Amino acid sequence: MGKTAPKKIRVLKDGPYLVAGDVPLSREIMVVGADKEPESWKKTEDFPAQSQYAPCRCGASKNKPFCDGSHLKTRFNDGDPSVRKP
Ligand code: FES
Repeated sequence: MGKTAPKKIRVLKDGPYLVAGDVPLSREIMVVGADKEPESWKKTEDFPAQSQYAPCRCGASKNKPFCDGSHLKTRFNDGDPSVRKP
């Protein structure tokens, strides 16, 4: 059995996440109950396995959940994390 790369998620400055290490990716929707409150999550899609991929973090990609480079056109700025308060 082959050795898999360690699982890693990096946040690229003003860009996407960078996910490595054969991390599975799926889409889920929130299930809302009769009282209009969220009750659970339901898986709606599994994406093909990839050893590495870049999920969009800016919300502008036309190929969600993956980055398509649109963050460059929109000049996505994630701010300076050193000034964020917990
Ligand atoms: S992070 Fe690249 S398109 Fe959103």
